[in-house]
Amino acid sequence: MHPIPRDASPDSTLALLSEGYRFVMNRCERHGSDIFETRLMLRKAICVMGEEAAGMFYEPDRFTRKGAMPITTLMLLQDRGAAQTLDGEAHRWRKRMLMALMEPENIRRLCGEVAAEWRAALPGWERAERVVLLDAVRAILCRAVCRWAGVPLAEEEAGPRTAEFAAMIDGAGAVGLRNWRGLLLRTRTERWARGLIEDVRAGRLVMTEGDAESRAIHAIATHRGLDGNRLDTVTASVELINILRPVVAIAQYVVFAAMALHEHPEQRAALQDASPEEVEHFVQEVRRFYPFFPLVAGRVRTPFDWRGHRFAEGTWVLLDLYGTCHDPRIWNDPERFRPERFRGREPGAFALIPQGGGGHLRGHRCAGEWITIEVVKTALRLLTREMRYSVPAQDLALDLSRMPAVPRSRFVITDVAPRRKADAVLDPPVALSRRAH
Ligand code: HEM
Repeated sequence: MHPIPRDASPDSTLALLSEGYRFVMNRCERHGSDIFETRLMLRKAICVMGEEAAGMFYEPDRFTRKGAMPITTLMLLQDRGAAQTLDGEAHRWRKRMLMALMEPENIRRLCGEVAAEWRAALPGWERAERVVLLDAVRAILCRAVCRWAGVPLAEEEAGPRTAEFAAMIDGAGAVGLRNWRGLLLRTRTERWARGLIEDVRAGRLVMTEGDAESRAIHAIATHRGLDGNRLDTVTASVELINILRPVVAIAQYVVFAAMALHEHPEQRAALQDASPEEVEHFVQEVRRFYPFFPLVAGRVRTPFDWRGHRFAEGTWVLLDLYGTCHDPRIWNDPERFRPERFRGREPGAFALIPQGGGGHLRGHRCAGEWITIEVVKTALRLLTREMRYSVPAQDLALDLSRMPAVPRSRFVITDVAPRRKADAVLDPPVALSRRAH
């Protein structure tokens, strides 16, 4: 057994902020090891990357997310009381409620809402001199997810709500102004979400019979915890926000998909007549290749040994998601965008982990992963089959020290025109039918 290599620097917080997504990879390369010890925010941290490390990290019940993320990030993303902060049975119970919303038919309904909003936005894009895709798609997704979730959204509310969700997403990996703006706007969103939960509970917001169960707002407002009680209003509103906001965040992957189309014209041509499987391979490669969440963090809940090292209770461990998705031990030629790599290959539960690894129900793997895949597939079909556009010269550089990373120009398109009369773009979701919860 080798001792865990240690970073020489007394504290690496500034290095993490400046190196961003490459922080863990850079050090793993330097130490020739997929595990090392460092200090972040003056705390000892163990950083790990790779498939084996992900398997270690996602062993059910080993880690808690409580006290594992900087508090400002936690408040912008998951927040106290949310499923991610729960452990053991309490977590599984809450997760079951969230995963019940992820039935294939319900996801298909969301994709239908996204396609309808996109088509409604197209005439405006045709008239516009330029469209900033990231902002435009965020607006589409905000409207679509609210309708899907059973959340009423008046026309004049759509803009401010989209801006609030966007500020939470943009502020999550930041320190200073960007983060404070996110926190400030979040208080407004929370007030709004609390009002909605109260409206459902008081019978002021009624859903049609039979339809209610598939609506996130109804499921969350009426959910009973293991103690038989409903969630308190604040926790319920946090869970509602945790469904709405990340769907808006999928706009980042849509922009990455558009970037990939732009940078690999041969892929665009191939996608015109691609099979549903090939479209899915493209989306999987977008999720593998482009940066989203750099890391997940946990504190040891149940002590264990791994590779001869003792992980005592409370040890802070950071798993590199981006690095694992670019690990040459798993991915041949990882810095190349190659959707074909997924042909005939079902990615392992600990290999393709941009949204966490392991199982969805028993662990903390992202509840919205299937939604994310299907929504990006829908957007891809709309981009390639229903519209033409130009991509003018612009700064598409991805700054890997900015988390979350987005192209500097936010992806501008011009000369938008319809490609052909809109028809059914929604192929049957390939993987959904064979995915078990
Ligand atoms: C936009 C792309 C998305 C990315 C990159 C992403 C990524 C992640 C990551 C890294 C985690 C943490 C896993 C962990 O703690 O081990 C997570 C958790 C979670 N995500 Fe996502 N996510 C996305 C979209 C979504 C969507 C669309 C939803 C809901 C509709 C969602 C709902 C959740 C929930 C509820 C959790 C907490 C799960 C738990 O602790 O059991 N996410 N996500």
